[in-house]
Amino acid sequence: MPENKVVLHYGGNSYEYPVVEGTIGDRGIDISQLRSQTGLITLDYGFKNTGSTSSGITFLDGDKGELLYRGYPIEELAEKSNFTEVMYLLLNGELPGKKDYDTFEANIKVHNYVAEEMKKIIDAFPRYAHPMGVLSTLTSALTAFNPKAVDAQSVEDLNHAAELMIAKFAHLCAWTYRKTQGLPLNHGDNSLNYVENFYKMVFRLPNEEFELDTYIVDALDKLLILHADHEQNCSTSTVRLVGSAHTGLFASISSGVSALWGPLHGGANQAVIEMLERIKSDGGDVAKYIAKAKDKNDNFRLMGFGHRVYKNFDPRAKIIKKASDVILSKMGIKDKALDIALQLEKIALEDDYFIERKLYPNVDFYSGIIYKALGFPTEMFTVMFALGRLPGWIAQWKEMRLNGDPIGRPRQVYTGAKKRNFVPIDQR
Ligand code: CMC
Repeated sequence: MPENKVVLHYGGNSYEYPVVEGTIGDRGIDISQLRSQTGLITLDYGFKNTGSTSSGITFLDGDKGELLYRGYPIEELAEKSNFTEVMYLLLNGELPGKKDYDTFEANIKVHNYVAEEMKKIIDAFPRYAHPMGVLSTLTSALTAFNPKAVDAQSVEDLNHAAELMIAKFAHLCAWTYRKTQGLPLNHGDNSLNYVENFYKMVFRLPNEEFELDTYIVDALDKLLILHADHEQNCSTSTVRLVGSAHTGLFASISSGVSALWGPLHGGANQAVIEMLERIKSDGGDVAKYIAKAKDKNDNFRLMGFGHRVYKNFDPRAKIIKKASDVILSKMGIKDKALDIALQLEKIALEDDYFIERKLYPNVDFYSGIIYKALGFPTEMFTVMFALGRLPGWIAQWKEMRLNGDPIGRPRQVYTGAKKRNFVPIDQR
């Protein structure tokens, strides 16, 4: 039976702090009285040991390689569900019945029109602007066009804001791509489902009929499901922190997009393809790059290998590898960079260096391969990650608001100058 309290001895006194139990996984020491009782705060760079909240949305076990959304294993959701259903599940806590599913889907379709004036904002960007910067701006601009959805208080208001966000975000993601290509910004086709509509909005040419291949929609559905939530990661924590000031949903999600943009977070899938291109242009010598990755005097790392939390395998990578095999064979793709990826994967999985350090391909190793095969430019990969992560961000924001979490306001250990007097500039 695990103990239900910890005792801290400090300054000749003892203080007891309760241990908080979750349903599974980490237990936490509740230190909410720590500062008032002892005058101490905790210091935890990068929050590696700090729970910022309790949450009932996503559970992951890095040692077992397990990922659950609302209790459902990611493998089952990727196999049997679709992205719209997973969005509903994350937002509402339960899988929808047929009627609820239809209403949810219909509400998203009702709201997916994006105001024409938004096109003027996107027009003002240079064509070479990074899609993530454009996406963050457009997401924030939604606030101006939907002012009534900003000050959401009731559950109905929160759900309405969530549906608006989901409906319009797919358009914005598609538009960031079309801007880079100089293609007209279109308004989609409501006879299609969410993922089909998004895919068509991205790739439809104005002078050609558009055909949807079911295996492509299936792969995209899986990719979006696999990225839909990952508990308190950097961008999700950002969304919750911004929202804790009762900032509206659109502005909070815009901050999440900015956090995700960073190469240490959502940018890794882009880094994988850039690495493959680098190896290709250097003659395709895979063994040379495996040796570089193992060489401690060389800072080269095999991008798409290893994970901070998953030390056994990344459960998302197993699913996505299968999907990438299907895509590559169905599309009959012969690409030197993709050949290099397959060789890297094979050699690394058999190499003692990678086996001993538990370095397995992560989700980003394969997601970049699929996006490349589908024709997305590398700069769009993180936008695709954002589209997938959107329901997780919204579900976490909604949970934070409904739980009544206080405004996030960390403390610090101050290391600057002590109090001193101002010296006028002519005397310095
Ligand atoms: N290539 C070569 N060696 C590696 C790699 C790699 N990709 N990753 C870790 N190592 C080695 C590292 O040098 C160290 O070796 P040693 O014990 O001899 O010093 C050992 O493995 C442990 O590495 P670490 O840096 O302590 O592990 P970490 O948990 O701090 O880092 C990681 C995790 C993901 C940052 C790291 O594996 C990495 O840089 N991978 C490449 C970048 C990447 O693919 N990132 C995407 C992560 S998935 C997206 C997400 O969910 O956020």
